[in-house]
Amino acid sequence: MGFSAAWLGLREPADLAARDPSLLEAAGACVPEGGLVLDLGCGTGSTARAFASIGFSDLRWRFFDNDPALLAEAARNIPQAEMALGNLVDIDVLPLEGVSLVTASALLDLMPQCWVEALADKLWQAGIPFYAALNYDGRMGWTPELPLDGAVTKYFNRHQRTDKGIGIALGPKAGAEAALALRSRGFNVTFADSPWRLGAAQATLHAELLGGIGSAAAEAGLNDAAEWALARCAAVEKSEGMIGHTDLLAIVPARASA
Ligand SMILES: C[S@@+](CC[C@H](N)C(=O)[O-])C[C@H]1O[C@@H](n2cnc3c(N)ncnc32)[C@H](O)[C@@H]1O
Repeated sequence: MGFSAAWLGLREPADLAARDPSLLEAAGACVPEGGLVLDLGCGTGSTARAFASIGFSDLRWRFFDNDPALLAEAARNIPQAEMALGNLVDIDVLPLEGVSLVTASALLDLMPQCWVEALADKLWQAGIPFYAALNYDGRMGWTPELPLDGAVTKYFNRHQRTDKGIGIALGPKAGAEAALALRSRGFNVTFADSPWRLGAAQATLHAELLGGIGSAAAEAGLNDAAEWALARCAAVEKSEGMIGHTDLLAIVPARASA
């Protein structure tokens, strides 16, 4: 499954507005001055820009992705970052050396349960905190409503739980399952809502998204999904959409000194 730099650029302002500010701040505070952050599925470097936007501009970044075109774009944007081209499927090859924080944005819902469990093990063994933002949580809603909104959400969510490259994706369950997995290892996990709020100012993103939602719902078997998408797109300037996400931060608890 591919993601274009154009799509990631279109969604970045909505992502930035949606991220929970206190979790972003607390995640940045986990990194000592000049510390190194590993961003899994970095795309063009949106997560680094989100940290910089609230003042964490001296972090060093190691970007990890399997798409060379996105990594090249990330390198153009943030030339001082280290680039790591690789597939997340093999947790054991993740370049964790010297890393103070691991991040992932808009990634966990693409990943299977076994991957999340393996990552939780790896990070717990290494004692590294984890910030995972913008995990789609299965909730979508629009005003004004259309009769098919609920059915489209149901079929879209079904599509989310198909293989996105390395196994059956967690889709809407990703944030909650990741929190469980990380807590069960011993991490202190904080969880927050980070929904997209799409109004007239986000009409371009909203229209593009509606096309994608309609196609996915149609692929999952909903007959009238294409008509729904056309009707929603026609009214996009006058409607509001909410796409549910969650953010989480998993911190290694301070160990009592002997
Ligand atoms: C939805 S995009 C999010 C990009 C970026 N984190 C952001 O918030 O803009 C998911 C990213 O994960 C990467 N990705 C997906 N599956 C991957 C895999 N198996 N190995 C490495 N990267 C992967 C994609 O190339 C893409 O850059």
